[in-house]
Amino acid sequence: MYPDPLTPYGNRPMVTPIVNAVNYEYLSFDVLRQITDGEIDGYTYHRDDNPTVRAVEKQLAALENAEDCVVCTSGMAACTMVYLTYLQAGDHMIIFHDTYGANYKVSLILERMGIAFTWVDADDAGSIGDYLKPNTRMIVLETPSNPLCKIIDLQVVRAAADTVGAMVVVDNTFATPYHQNPLNLGANLVIHSATKALGGHNDLMAGAIAGSKEHYNRLWFTRQAIGTTLDAYSAFLLARGIKTFELRAAAMADSAIKIAEFLQGQPKVLRISYPGLPSHPNHVIAARQMRRGFGGMLAFDVGDDEEDAKRFIAALKRIRHAVSLGCTESLICIPYLTTMLYLPPERRTAFGVSKNSVRLSVGIEDPALLVADLKQALACVAQGRKETRP
Ligand SMILES: Cc1ncc(COP(=O)(O)O)c(C=O)c1O
Repeated sequence: MYPDPLTPYGNRPMVTPIVNAVNYEYLSFDVLRQITDGEIDGYTYHRDDNPTVRAVEKQLAALENAEDCVVCTSGMAACTMVYLTYLQAGDHMIIFHDTYGANYKVSLILERMGIAFTWVDADDAGSIGDYLKPNTRMIVLETPSNPLCKIIDLQVVRAAADTVGAMVVVDNTFATPYHQNPLNLGANLVIHSATKALGGHNDLMAGAIAGSKEHYNRLWFTRQAIGTTLDAYSAFLLARGIKTFELRAAAMADSAIKIAEFLQGQPKVLRISYPGLPSHPNHVIAARQMRRGFGGMLAFDVGDDEEDAKRFIAALKRIRHAVSLGCTESLICIPYLTTMLYLPPERRTAFGVSKNSVRLSVGIEDPALLVADLKQALACVAQGRKETRP
């Protein structure tokens, strides 16, 4: 009899067991055949599959209304696996400038392999049809976008993609599946950096790609071929994070709107971008695509220049100066100096990022304390005071 590695004790454990085995002893040739023919979710070698990983894949598929999900070592591994699986030399891909900066690094590698890229400003998404070519195979976007929280109308992108038969791939890390399910809005695939709100505690790195069973099969093949399979311990941490994910996502969004409303009235804050504010240029589209609030991410410009933004961040006492997002602690950074650093300077600013633009990821702290922290740091900017953290 083949024991299910997740229920080897007669009763079901309350938490997913961490199965650290690299390989599995074949109990019979028949079981081996059933596994390799895909008749059962069995296990032979960790690079192929792992029961702890498989359990969290099913949780994530359910969150994204997907038939299945492939989990891998990081959000960038997920993006790269998608590009490697579906693109080949001679293909063209459209990607929005306002996506996570490391996509630019990956594009340099893929260009060497004969894949052409067109970078589009999210503000220009309405004209996406103008950028399509007969060989456009894929359109990749984030909505809300990273870092400027621009909103892209998925209906418009889907309709344009259909004219050339291109796939639509949405990185849903900023929105999270609590607020938005891109597969229900016309996307073919959803990508996550599960390092962020899904994990939620700054203690694991993982990526995920959700979609149809057919996409699962193709992406699974890429993962087992190139070896981007997540380790069992990180999969366990991710499953634990997902238990509180909805509570955390709701708290972040509730706080984010309060913070956005506060920031809106502040003289030293310019160009605040939060999709939940009626002043956001695409608030109506966001309200159609998102539900239960608008997420925990917001972007704004501080004062007049980079020095003002640095002064502001240095003066914050509770909000931490770090990259990453979606975790229990509120985090702030200057994308020009961090997540977009690798891009040539003119590319960093071309679509609206300024040297004094900051990206705030709202955590689950008391929002009144966060507002108080922002208030005192803005007062430092107004007074031109240089504060340093204790
Ligand atoms: C929207 C988005 N996608 C993908 C990534 C890459 O994720 P990872 O750091 O897990 O590779 C990030 C990282 O910040 C991100 O913000």
